[in-house]
Amino acid sequence: PDSTVATTPQLGFNTWNAFGCAPGVDGKPGPTEALIKSTADAIHSNGMQAAGYTYINIDDCWMTHDRDGNGNLVADPARFPDGINGVADYVHSLGLKLGIYESAGTMTCQQFPGSLGHEGQDANLFAAWGVDYLKYDNCYNNGVPSRQRYTAMRDALAATGHHILYSICNWGEDSPWIWGAATGNSWRTTGDINASYGSMLSIFHANVGLGAWAGPHHWNDPDMLEVGNGMSAIEDRSEFSLWSMMAAPLIAGNDFGRTSPDALATLTNARLIAVDQDSLSQQAHLVDAAGGLDVLAKPLAGGDVAVALFNEGGSTATISTSAAAVGKTGAASYGLTDLWSGATSSTTGAISASVPAHGTVVYRLSGGNATALNAGVLNGAGSGK
Ligand code: GLA
Repeated sequence: PDSTVATTPQLGFNTWNAFGCAPGVDGKPGPTEALIKSTADAIHSNGMQAAGYTYINIDDCWMTHDRDGNGNLVADPARFPDGINGVADYVHSLGLKLGIYESAGTMTCQQFPGSLGHEGQDANLFAAWGVDYLKYDNCYNNGVPSRQRYTAMRDALAATGHHILYSICNWGEDSPWIWGAATGNSWRTTGDINASYGSMLSIFHANVGLGAWAGPHHWNDPDMLEVGNGMSAIEDRSEFSLWSMMAAPLIAGNDFGRTSPDALATLTNARLIAVDQDSLSQQAHLVDAAGGLDVLAKPLAGGDVAVALFNEGGSTATISTSAAAVGKTGAASYGLTDLWSGATSSTTGAISASVPAHGTVVYRLSGGNATALNAGVLNGAGSGK
């Protein structure tokens, strides 16, 4: 994949979670030029761009049902009157980047023309339009092995000579973490998320053990954010905490036309984004999970460790760990910063918090020496290694 992009996990927005396909398909409006422009305007001015969000991504349902006489994909003129190049120019004028969606199959999931067998022509078209990011889906794939289909588009994108972030979306099929680093800048590890605590929790479980496969330019993707789409504020903060701990792409999926101040504050938490984007590029290790009281540790550049205490259960619980258990030794006293409240404190080694149901407390632990964390038994679970 392109090794100039996704040095840290990509940050952006995608239309799918809030806007879907079309009124007659899923009762949602689907992507339009007006939506992309208004979202780009919002992200430009509401603190999102300043927080690092860069990619404005169009998902499925952007095109017409037929290719043109030259075999090229066509942007639906009713949705995109100025074409994808027109909207790309607008997004670029704000200092942002544009993403698009296709499928490594004969059709997209919503049955628009797919790119299987058209990789070169479609990649060239995207590059000519000024597209900076491709989310490449898995529907109608005719049983062709993932690796073959996703490699074909990787090579087609490289041949354009443009820097296009390549986001593999094959839902964890064919263990993409194994071949993903050589193929794409990120790969989905699971099926689709929805705006519920149960969905978010199951995706967290599936993704948390895959850290050994992630690193600069190649990340595990536990799907897009549902912050602001219907979970409670506590659950929204848990998703944002856990995704940041897992060095996941942070792709907002909410409607900025009606996003609460609370949800916007969650998405723009600079202390959590710094954990996600940390240059040591480590995915958090799950160091304890007894009784659904999870302790995650993410070593950071410079020796600090981010520590998340996630209460999976339905009632408030105290979650406790220690500096030694999360990879810190050798100090009489350590600093603790609560990454949600900003409050600072110190500890001789005990780390503990009362965590509400479905909630997550995240600390940044400083001082002493960072020791190598044993990736351990817990992180091997479900990794398919
Ligand atoms: C699949 C993907 C989703 C979304 C839809 C669009 O389900 O996994 O993220 O792109 O297709 O149809």
